Amino acid sequence: MNRKLLAALSFVALAGTAAFAGTEAGSGVPGSIHDMTIYGAYGSGDPEVQQGRVCAYCHTPHHAITEGNDYLPLWSHTVTTQTFTPYASATIDANIDPTTMMEGPSKLCMSCHDGSVAVDTHYAFTGGKKLQQDDNLFSTPAVGEKGNLSNDHPIGFIYDDADGGIAKGPETGNPNLEDHVQGKDEWIRNKNATYAGSGLKIADRLWASASQGGKPIMTCATCHDVHNKKNKDKAGSTNYLLLATNEGSALCLSCHIK
Ligand code: HEC
Ligand code: HEC
Ligand code: HEC
Ligand code: HEC
Repeated sequence: MNRKLLAALSFVALAGTAAFAGTEAGSGVPGSIHDMTIYGAYGSGDPEVQQGRVCAYCHTPHHAITEGNDYLPLWSHTVTTQTFTPYASATIDANIDPTTMMEGPSKLCMSCHDGSVAVDTHYAFTGGKKLQQDDNLFSTPAVGEKGNLSNDHPIGFIYDDADGGIAKGPETGNPNLEDHVQGKDEWIRNKNATYAGSGLKIADRLWASASQGGKPIMTCATCHDVHNKKNKDKAGSTNYLLLATNEGSALCLSCHIK
């Protein structure tokens, strides 16, 4: 364990609910906010904790979970069983089917972030540290607690510029106002646009949905990089593992022409 990490840990211990400082943007999982070993020893008898294994809280090379979700990349973490309520509004054009909206990485994120499964539940170990728990360990609240994603940015819909698609805007610049007075869809960049400040395309971060005939859907991983490798936000007390920086709302402006 390096000194910076030790300093940060003692800071957390003193300050109680303070966020873990020091997730260096793009530096990978170890030492990041997704390195579960930084949250202290979960159950002293847990051999994963003793070895300080970072990937083990989410993945396993053998005996991975094979049931319960369409995408389980050598997954070792109990998957949430919540049912989810999607975002809805009078102006949204995208269709979100609640039964398939969590396809791809999203449901894996929710296996910790909806607060229903403890973050240290992996392999055969039943953990005790849930995100929504009233303790001093975690500083961010659950996202979609009890499956409620109705007040969160929409996910799980087809992100396409094909007929009926909702992302028909140009890759760069503004849409032609005269041609597109009727629709709102021209105000969202098509999937070949790149995230601000990176060569990565939106299309690279969409999920080919099996239930939608392989069409690309938006997921949590369309905005976030769980492994903190493509993170473009600044290092700091929080950097949100974002694919474009939050500064000047560059992430939002990668897609929304506003
Ligand atoms: C906090 C949970 C978590 C941790 C820790 C984690 N991963 Fe992942 N990993 C995921 C999720 C979720 C996905 C699904 C793809 C996505 O969301 O981008 C994934 C996908 C993958 C994939 C397949 C897709 C890809 O991006 O290549 C590989 C390989 C992988 N992880 C390797 C690792 C390794 C190696 C480690 C440890 C250094 C690690 N992961 C740590 C959650 C995690
Ligand atoms: C194994 C459990 C686990 C999984 C799986 C997981 N996370 Fe996390 N995540 C955490 C924990 C624990 C924190 C830290 C919470 C805190 O300190 O308040 C966190 C923090 C975050 C943060 C906040 C970063 C910050 O700087 O404040 C984001 C964003 C995030 N996760 C997104 C995701 C996404 C997206 C996925 C899926 C692709 C995912 N997580 C999968 C456990 C997990
Ligand atoms: C449209 C982009 C986008 C999508 C999709 C998205 N997020 Fe986020 N998320 C953000 C941004 C931006 C932040 C930084 C906080 C802010 O700006 O308010 C954030 C913050 C977070 C945080 C930090 C704590 C908090 O509540 O602010 C967590 C945890 C998180 N997201 C998890 C998720 C999970 C899980 C999903 C999928 C269900 C998801 N996000 C989908 C953009 C997104
Ligand atoms: C990867 C592309 C992408 C990113 C990044 C993104 N959005 Fe979106 N957003 C969309 C799409 C697509 C929709 C669905 C629009 C529709 O169907 O009308 C949407 C929907 C919304 C809506 C709801 C619109 C309505 O009519 O109710 C709001 C508000 C919004 N986004 C704001 C944001 C903000 C703020 C950010 C940055 C934190 C952001 N978005 C980041 C693509 C994105």
